[in-house]
Amino acid sequence: MGENTPTTTLVETAMAPDSRSDSLYLTHPTPEEKLATWSLNSVNWGSALSLPDYLQREEYLTTVPLARNGGLTHWILVDRTLPPNERPILASCETLRKPVLVSHNGVITEGITHGIGSVFSQPKFRGKGYASRMLRELGPLLKEWQVDQNIPGMQTCPFSILYSDIGKKYYAKFGWVPFPSTHIAFPSAANSKPFTAKPLAYSDLEELCALDQQYVKRSLENTKDSKTHVALIPNHDTMQWHHLREDFVCCKIFGKAPTVKGAIAGESGSRVWAVWTRGFYGPLKPESGNTLHILRLVIEDETAIEANATKLKAILEIAQAEAKEWQLGHVELWNPTEVVKQMVKSTGLEHSEVEREGESIASLMWYGEGSGTSDDIEWVGNEKYGWC
Ligand SMILES: CC(C)(COP(=O)(O)OP(=O)(O)OC[C@H]1O[C@@H](n2cnc3c(N)ncnc32)[C@H](O)[C@@H]1OP(=O)(O)O)[C@@H](O)C(=O)NCCC(=O)NCCS
Repeated sequence: MGENTPTTTLVETAMAPDSRSDSLYLTHPTPEEKLATWSLNSVNWGSALSLPDYLQREEYLTTVPLARNGGLTHWILVDRTLPPNERPILASCETLRKPVLVSHNGVITEGITHGIGSVFSQPKFRGKGYASRMLRELGPLLKEWQVDQNIPGMQTCPFSILYSDIGKKYYAKFGWVPFPSTHIAFPSAANSKPFTAKPLAYSDLEELCALDQQYVKRSLENTKDSKTHVALIPNHDTMQWHHLREDFVCCKIFGKAPTVKGAIAGESGSRVWAVWTRGFYGPLKPESGNTLHILRLVIEDETAIEANATKLKAILEIAQAEAKEWQLGHVELWNPTEVVKQMVKSTGLEHSEVEREGESIASLMWYGEGSGTSDDIEWVGNEKYGWC
């Protein structure tokens, strides 16, 4: 034993370097390293699918409109002295670029944000500070990542975001501050009577997203307080990213893709609509937490609360029936405003209000002046569509 000890120690040191070492750096994986990372993290995020299907989904999601042409970036923390494909991957994550609006005193700036996802360190490397090292480097780096003064809409990255599944403290240490993370949950329910709202298909979404974009911009222009208001733009590419992901998973699980992507009620100018997606986190069992997520709720005229409640009820009834049909436990509506909460109460539908403490904590790192907390920043439309 005595003779072997020094060799073993050397090998282990080479495999698990000090997380503060100068030789560690953040870079991008080779295709083989990407595959190796997905294989490892499939334990955490792939349990609704077989391993080959999960690997295929991740590859596919690099090709969809929001992700392609550099929209999606994969990051790894490795030792710079070791060659690609022979270096241990100490930590990994990905970032997805999305367009944003920022408004201060009614002056609007367009920019980009990067949503960080799939933060991961393989079990044998955990607790050694690698994910911390990666995140400490990534936070400031994203402020400049893909920012280009020559491309309109990409001249600034005012903040980056992530949705923490490990509580409110870990990412806050590095500067991603927790923001309100609540939802209203509705049970799935079988359809007992004809629907009064109209289901939304793929072909309806482009036009509605374009309108929604205008509404968000207008609402940011009209902000009256001294806070900075920020919003991810609920554009078509963003919704489509969720839908293509959903379609891929449903085709693997059910052999078909769902065609009902939301529902709409009312006449033009006073419509209410919801766009949704189905999220599968494990086998078709209640404990998997499979959920129909409302990505975005749009109310064209907020003044008509009672009429809007009737429209919302009609929309939610379709959502509940879709949840039932696709074996999802419930419907979730993230961060409802006070107006929406009041509307939901008026629907008379069974529901519960949830304040999340551990999962999907919307978190934001602000690159500008001020505290960067919700005291100074209002995250408008902090709904599921922003999640990645
Ligand atoms: C979370 C994860 C990336 C941390 O990687 P790591 O390299 O071990 O992280 P670090 O060594 O830098 O930091 C360790 C800290 O992580 C925190 N942490 C890890 N898992 C956690 C969890 N499930 N809940 C809360 N905190 C957690 C602990 O606070 C730990 O602190 P300690 O050192 O006081 O024990 C890693 O545990 C992992 O890959 N987990 C599975 C995937 C996952 O849940 N990713 C996060 C998605 S939001």
